[in-house]
Amino acid sequence: HHPGWPATLGPLRVAAGVVTLRPIRMRDGKEWSRLRISNQNQLLPWEPTGIGSWERRHQSSTWGPLYSVLKAEAKRGNVLPFVIEVDGRYAGQLTVGNIQRGAVRSAWIGYWVDHGVSGKGVATAAAALGVDHCFGPVGLHRLEATVQPGNGASQAVLTHVGFREEGLLKRYMDVNGRWRDHLLMGLTVEEVVDTAVDTLIRNGRAQAV
Ligand code: ACO
Repeated sequence: HHPGWPATLGPLRVAAGVVTLRPIRMRDGKEWSRLRISNQNQLLPWEPTGIGSWERRHQSSTWGPLYSVLKAEAKRGNVLPFVIEVDGRYAGQLTVGNIQRGAVRSAWIGYWVDHGVSGKGVATAAAALGVDHCFGPVGLHRLEATVQPGNGASQAVLTHVGFREEGLLKRYMDVNGRWRDHLLMGLTVEEVVDTAVDTLIRNGRAQAV
């Protein structure tokens, strides 16, 4: 086992309910498929380009292979694939990827949340829990996130938990059929006052449970 995996993070209360993070499970397939398909319009503009129709790529049967890859990569210490739960229900995912050890000790963080609970602090709470976990038990020093200049909601999430802009990556990622510019956002452990969760609580964005 690698430091910080497997793990359950939270709980933390926001307007939508009580947010917790837990490792993905094989039996998440049905909910994953249902929410990914019902959130197509919200997700498509920001997600890597894929082969075949959205619906086909998000059938329940796609989850098995995806789960296996993520589980194996988590076992090797390369990724932390979390499900975001709101009041115990599957509401999205938060993934920490490309975990680098050695002298860099850095990773990226990414997330999506069901639009049925969006705008109520869920991603902000999940990101704060993820940040504290990475800088705590996982032992990382830096986190980065890439976000398109037009993705205001995701930029707000990152800003709320302390990320700052580091630059603009021109034509960085193949998203929704084209090479899209992305803002590179970064955060190092020295910049976090107490914890990211404490910062949210201090700023009235979350409450301890
Ligand atoms: N411009 C600026 N701010 C906005 C906009 C906008 N167009 N829309 C919403 N916001 C703000 C909200 O007001 C809120 O801030 P506030 O709390 O100060 O009012 C903030 O964005 C959203 O915060 P949360 O409620 O914590 O976020 P939510 O749970 O709604 O999830 C998310 C946000 C993850 C971006 C969700 O909308 C989503 O899944 N989108 C589609 C997928 C996606 O874009 N994922 C992120 C890709 S980039 C990355 O992973 C680093």
